[in-house]
Amino acid sequence: MAHTVKGIVLAGGTGSRLFPLTRVTNKHLLPVGRKPMIFHPIEKLIEAGVQDILIVTGTEHMGAVVGLLGSGKDYGCRFTYKVQDEAGGIAQALGLARNFVGSDRMCVILGDNIFEDPITDAVRDFSEAPAGSTRLMLKPVDDPQRFGVATVEGDRITRIVEKPKEPESNLAVIGVYMYDNGVFDVISTLRPSGRGELEISDVNQHYVEQGMVSYSVLSGWWTDAGTFESLAQANRLVGE
Ligand code: G1P
Repeated sequence: MAHTVKGIVLAGGTGSRLFPLTRVTNKHLLPVGRKPMIFHPIEKLIEAGVQDILIVTGTEHMGAVVGLLGSGKDYGCRFTYKVQDEAGGIAQALGLARNFVGSDRMCVILGDNIFEDPITDAVRDFSEAPAGSTRLMLKPVDDPQRFGVATVEGDRITRIVEKPKEPESNLAVIGVYMYDNGVFDVISTLRPSGRGELEISDVNQHYVEQGMVSYSVLSGWWTDAGTFESLAQANRLVGE
C-alpha cells in the first residue's frame, strides 16, 4: 500500500554565514534566479505530487514567509506553518512536525538546498517502502568537510558523520530526507552536538545502524546556498 507523503521545508536558522544579507531578511527569501530561494524546494515537492507542505521558520520571519506563500492555493498545494522559537538544529526543527505528519510519512527538504534532479521517483518508491525505512540522497562534492558525509559499501550506507575533519568519502548527504513517523521517537533520544544542535546526521546514523537506509546519488547539479560562495553558485546553476 502506498502511504501519503507530506512535505516539510525547514526554513529557520539565523543565516549568520550570510550577514548582513540576513540581518533583517530570512535566508530562504533571498533571490536564487528569479525566485525567492524557498520556491525551489517547494517546487520539487509539488512536482513529486506532495500536496500538504509544512513550513518551519523562526518568529522573526514567519510574517514575511506567510505573506509570500499564503495558503498555497496559488501553487496547487496546502501550506501549514510552524514556529521554531530558537534555532536548535535541523532535527529539533523537524521534531516540531509531529502533529502535522500524524500517521503519514514525510519528505523533508532544507530550504537552502537547490538541485536539478526531480525527486518524484524517490518519493513514490519511499511511499511504498516497508515501515521504518529511510531514504537519503548523496552527491559527490569537492568540500565534504562542510556537510554530513556518508561512507558506502555497495548499495549500503555504513556510516554518516556530520562535518568530519577527515571525511571517509566525498559523498555529501544532501538536505532531502524521507522518514516515516517513527523519526519523532528517534529525535526524542538525541543529545545536542558540539555545536549545540540536534543533528540530522545523528538521526540518519541511527537508521544506518538499523540497516534501514536506502540511497540514491544525484546525477544533476546540487548546492546549498547558505554561504556567499554557495549562494552565488546557486544563482549561476539556476541561471544556466
Ligand atoms: C546541514 C546538515 C548536513 C547537510 C547539509 C546539506 O548542514 O547538517 O548534514 O549535508 O545541511 O545542505 P548545515 O547547512 O546546517 O551546515
